Amino acid sequence: MNRHEPTQLSDENPNGSNPTNNPALSDLIEKRWDRRSILGGALGLTAAQFLGAGLLASRKAVAQTAVGAPAANRGSRLGFAEVPPSSADTIVVPPGYTWSVLVPWGTPLFSGVAPFREDASNTSQDQEGQVGFNHDGMHFFPLENGSKGSKRGLLVLNHEYTDASQIYSAATGAGITNDAAGREKVAKALAAHGVTVVEIQQLSNGTWTHVVNSPYNRRVTGNTPMEFGGPVDADHPLLASSISPAPRGTLNNCGHGYTPWGTYLACEENWNGYFGSTDTTWTATALEARYGLTRTGFGYNWHVAEPRFDLTVNRNEANHFGWCVEVNPFEPDSTPVKRSALGRFKHEGATVVEARGRAVAYSGDDENGEYVYKYVSKRPWREDIARGRSPLDEGILYVARFDADGRGTWLPLAHGVGPLTTANGWVDQADVLIRTRQAADAVGATRCHRPEWVAVHPESKDVYVTFTNGTGNNAPVNSNRASNPYGHIVRIVEKRADNTATTFEWDIFLLAGDPAYDATVPANQPIFGSPDGIWADDDGLVWIQTDISNSSQNLASRGYDRIGNNQMLCADPETGEVKRFMTGPRGCEVTGVITTPDKRTMFVNIQHPGESTSYWNTQFGAPTVANPSTVSSWPFGGRPRPATVVIRKVDGGRIGD
Ligand code: FEO
Ligand code: CA
Ligand code: CA
Repeated sequence: MNRHEPTQLSDENPNGSNPTNNPALSDLIEKRWDRRSILGGALGLTAAQFLGAGLLASRKAVAQTAVGAPAANRGSRLGFAEVPPSSADTIVVPPGYTWSVLVPWGTPLFSGVAPFREDASNTSQDQEGQVGFNHDGMHFFPLENGSKGSKRGLLVLNHEYTDASQIYSAATGAGITNDAAGREKVAKALAAHGVTVVEIQQLSNGTWTHVVNSPYNRRVTGNTPMEFGGPVDADHPLLASSISPAPRGTLNNCGHGYTPWGTYLACEENWNGYFGSTDTTWTATALEARYGLTRTGFGYNWHVAEPRFDLTVNRNEANHFGWCVEVNPFEPDSTPVKRSALGRFKHEGATVVEARGRAVAYSGDDENGEYVYKYVSKRPWREDIARGRSPLDEGILYVARFDADGRGTWLPLAHGVGPLTTANGWVDQADVLIRTRQAADAVGATRCHRPEWVAVHPESKDVYVTFTNGTGNNAPVNSNRASNPYGHIVRIVEKRADNTATTFEWDIFLLAGDPAYDATVPANQPIFGSPDGIWADDDGLVWIQTDISNSSQNLASRGYDRIGNNQMLCADPETGEVKRFMTGPRGCEVTGVITTPDKRTMFVNIQHPGESTSYWNTQFGAPTVANPSTVSSWPFGGRPRPATVVIRKVDGGRIGD
């Protein structure tokens, strides 16, 4: 998401809410960079060449020598023609591909639900039966034909946040007032958040449609009853809420995960921004401050109309958020469960893989100066599932420490281990988990540049983490970058390719940016900024989605960068080749990607088309431009609507081949 980054970026503490002096990944990169530079005299080499060489030389699986082009002895696996950067208000895909729109915001899931109204006058009740706003993480669960069905399935997608300027009608305006009209607005926003489960099917002409009234269709919203699983009980004193004694709702569901046992994980990212206080004397506790709770929040002002979000009268409600929420899409009446063992922070996503029979979940905490986490289940997941237990309820949560020599350690966040003792004020494991960020501070985790999504390569088991951008003292990744608006992707190589391992090696896989403005970016690499979504498909190709906040600028008038609208790229880690596969409409973020098992259909989400990006200019010193080119009427020529895009090959072939 980028809408609320202005608040984060303009915060008095440029490092977000991390008060520690724990080492920053940027400093470690600098150290490695400088040392290699001095030892090798290799000025002019790319970051990947620099940082990758020592590590990669010790490995057999990966033959990367440079990004941007395939190694000479390997053929390209990317069988499509690269698309150029775009500032057009449309989707652009390679020649031979076609795209169409599926389940845009406001699509009724059931008969009897009011259709979407162009003037945004739909009520909160309408919204509860319609597809939510701001599509984000997404998975396709096949129906029929076992796990390989590719003609019919459940599309499950997150709805990250709402934009008051887009979801309310001009007649009611964007403001929240302490009256019935204000409460209706909050109710509509809550109903537009959460998760959509919708059955979709492919018609004989190849196009896809959603199935109205499918028994699987479901909305999980900011009001849906929730359970807690793992060490934190719903009746924990720190969760005691005067307004929601039984937990309800999930908010700011950004990235996602999917499990080998067929469930979906919706992760709670910038949930802190929904809370505020009407009391001007309110001050944050240490716990609240560490999680970025402030008196004004991100400006939603829900607390003005709804005491549930007022930190003065109901401050423990905030502790209901920051978790990973497991949803079983095949059981529409099941209660979603907040899996507390995976920790509490600004969960970008939770990428689950199997290793040594265990369930392993990787997560980034997306804020300046925050950490990368990994959960490993205590037992093999099949054993837990067979006995009716969740593999996500008992296990060890680790946080990453990166070292300057290219090695790293997963540090356990376990009560009684290291500094997390009763003598040091840690009550029990539930306490450690509710205060995950402070626990990670205490064990000496490495501060990072906004860790976002994680992809795990199906063969090498390498782990790719997007670090979208950064400011403050965690920002620079090299001396060319006083701030880091473009971000980079780090590769973690677990010891012996075992995702349960407690030690690893790391390097930079891709340094994003425009070589015209940063000589360390490879000249033959497609220009892109702020990698966010990332996913490795079954063939081992890595799909990279961007959320650079200056998307869809008027390129000619900016003179600052040539990146254009947000985009999706495809990288082949075996050759280092990277190509731009698609570009999105103006003002959007491209996020969420999955294919059908036969790889003949790809689903991609377009979030917040038409969103303002003006703050970028003040934050990064670029020229301020009156920017009509951020205005979007995608996809239907009227009010911009977040939507899923279906991409297919005209000849019906496999995507990317
Ligand atoms: Fe919601 Fe970190 O992107
Ligand atoms: Ca983002
Ligand atoms: Ca994101």
